[in-house]
Amino acid sequence: MTSVVEPPLSKVVQNPGHGESFTAHMISMEWSEEGGWTSPELMPLSDLVIHPGMIGLHYGQVTFEGLKAHRRTDGRMGVFRPRDHARRFQRSARRLAMPELPEDTFVEAVERLIAVDEVHLSDDPTHSIYLRPFMFATDTTLMLRPSRTYRFLLMAFVAGGFFGENVESVSVFISHDYVRAFPGGTGDVKIAGNYAPSFLAQQQAEAAGCQQAVWLDAIERRYVEEMGGMNMFLVRGSGADAQIVTPELTGTLLPGVTRNTLLTLAERLGHSASTERLTVDRWREECLNGTITEVFACGTAAVVTPVGHVRDPKGGDWTIGDGRPGPVTLKIRQALVDLHHGELADPDGWLHLV
Ligand SMILES: Cc1ncc(COP(=O)(O)O)c(C=O)c1O
Repeated sequence: MTSVVEPPLSKVVQNPGHGESFTAHMISMEWSEEGGWTSPELMPLSDLVIHPGMIGLHYGQVTFEGLKAHRRTDGRMGVFRPRDHARRFQRSARRLAMPELPEDTFVEAVERLIAVDEVHLSDDPTHSIYLRPFMFATDTTLMLRPSRTYRFLLMAFVAGGFFGENVESVSVFISHDYVRAFPGGTGDVKIAGNYAPSFLAQQQAEAAGCQQAVWLDAIERRYVEEMGGMNMFLVRGSGADAQIVTPELTGTLLPGVTRNTLLTLAERLGHSASTERLTVDRWREECLNGTITEVFACGTAAVVTPVGHVRDPKGGDWTIGDGRPGPVTLKIRQALVDLHHGELADPDGWLHLV
């Protein structure tokens, strides 16, 4: 392990935004067929020197994860479900013929980076540290084959709200022109190549006045799968009897850690939670006849984000409930936020203390 010359501590970040207020360090590891993984090295966040013929740049052999650490009310840092992210990172690597990083190594890297970089996080409970582990192919060749060497890096940034500081409803746009994932593809793993093709759909959504695109299944083009880089939920009914539903994992959806968490949390809050395949037509019909009362999107970055309006260039637009954040959505959101901050019972040990 190399010792690190500490860069001057940058100030505590007050207005972080999302994705730009990087912390001071990163952790680096390399992998080769002969030597396996090298020991993790903690170093200042710095530019990389890479050869332009690197496989990762040309053929997209790149995987990544996104997880968060929050400052609990007792001052300690809690990382949310790092082992689940480590296992998804392994599945993503397997899908791209890359080496798997051991789960313990992943968690130790996260602990080390948080220990040195938590100083950047203010006491504002709406802020967190977003950790970005990623791995890329480093062989220098333009032969179309998997690399024989790889680099793993873990970097981080201080995160504010993904959609701004307040909880407001977003509008979503049903993408009929583009699909995100298809059977046999890579929709159920987290790889760089899934995201660039989504940008055009996102631009279309924005041009239509919406914040996010809604992805439909690639075969029949009628089942609702995800929203941008988030999983989707709907609420049927209201009050104590409200039922929470999310699209079933068909192999083309990313199995979100937040999605999985909310299915359990909803039951703990006394609601039934289930999965089903939902068509756009049924979604619209049930919103219009009042059966579906609320819709929200969820993910590590977005936490729980209420959806107020849907624009469907083929079937017309509709409003969900009165278009404002609904009570069940806000209750589930608060439960998740409380869990992150160590203010809610954590029987599954999801909060990993550093
Ligand atoms: C396509 C996609 N769906 C859903 C999610 C939400 O997953 P998680 O809750 O694990 O952040 C993400 C973010 O990782 C994503 O990129």
